Amino acid sequence: MTKAKIIGLGSYYPEKVLTNKDFEKMVETSDEWIRTRTGVEERRIAAQDEFTSDMGAEAAKKALRDANLNESDIDFILVATSTPDYIFPSTACLIQEKLKANNIPCLDIQAACSGYVYALTLAKSLVETKTYKNVLIIATEKLSSIVNYKDRKTAILFGDAAAASIVSLKGKGLAIKSTYLSASGKEADLLMLPAGGSRHPASIETVKENKHFLQMQGKEVYKHAVRRMTEAIEKCLEQANLTEKDISWLIPHQANERIIDAIAKRFEHLESDKVFKEVVRKFGNTSASSVGLALDILKKENRIKPKEKILLSVFGAGFAWGACILEND
Ligand code: UT7
Repeated sequence: MTKAKIIGLGSYYPEKVLTNKDFEKMVETSDEWIRTRTGVEERRIAAQDEFTSDMGAEAAKKALRDANLNESDIDFILVATSTPDYIFPSTACLIQEKLKANNIPCLDIQAACSGYVYALTLAKSLVETKTYKNVLIIATEKLSSIVNYKDRKTAILFGDAAAASIVSLKGKGLAIKSTYLSASGKEADLLMLPAGGSRHPASIETVKENKHFLQMQGKEVYKHAVRRMTEAIEKCLEQANLTEKDISWLIPHQANERIIDAIAKRFEHLESDKVFKEVVRKFGNTSASSVGLALDILKKENRIKPKEKILLSVFGAGFAWGACILEND
């Protein structure tokens, strides 16, 4: 069977840079603490009038140009985000309008930081079953809209960005060889946005209690992230009948450099120069966008050679996690 491929990639990040030094003026922290505990040096912050859909549409336009396609060529839009413009309508519909795309199905999915790999897996099925031809997937996040900038434990971690890909059977690109997805709702309360949904609708109390901000039990999340991303890598390799020696690039979710190092250490043959960390350093944790942004950077800089295989692994709220293996044409 012909495998689905990523035939176009694009990304977008806002202009404004927020450095660790800037944080020193906002909360009790230091550049040194942030670098050594997380690896983050700076992150991008969207303008007040720049929204998740705007960033997603910009990334999508670049992916379309990269694939040599027009807006009218896409027949499905799938958006992964935890920071939609609204609870409804979907951000996918808003992006369809910004792109002036045809009246095609538009759908948001919620898999938190794992959204890009979840979307890629769904897009793969949609094109391999020949239900749709060119699926536009977009991971886009304005995390600055749900971060409490008075909470040093979370504020320093996150940034805003978007990444988009076109998935199709036709054209040259990165073949999606294998994907693995999983989730466990048991740990839902370790990482969440408590209010604004049906359980805690917005009220004066929810605002006063900071329940419209992201909340995370960092230490616990850290342990699960290492364990689950390692598991996802092993399962995905096994499914594809490959070993770690076959992998040229490992792109783990860019949340914390120490998490990435802890995962890499578990694979003897994944030397440090094969493990991608540049996005966490320069953009912080951009949730769903993180691995898509990393992939776009690698591809645009021609750092992926013909026939090389790339392994993406992701983990986030839910918990939801997964991995996928791509092979360059
Ligand atoms: O995207 C979804 C997945 N998310 C993640 O994977 C994030 C997972 N978690 C993490 O990356 C880490 O747990 C953090 C970076 C969030 C925190 O690192 P940690 O090594 O687990 O630190 P900690 O929370 O145990 O805090 C250690 C100390 C505490 O002080 P005491 O209690 O030991 O006196 C904190 O209050 O560091 C303090 N601290 C800070 N100090 C300076 C916490 N945040 C800061 C800060 N600056 N920004």
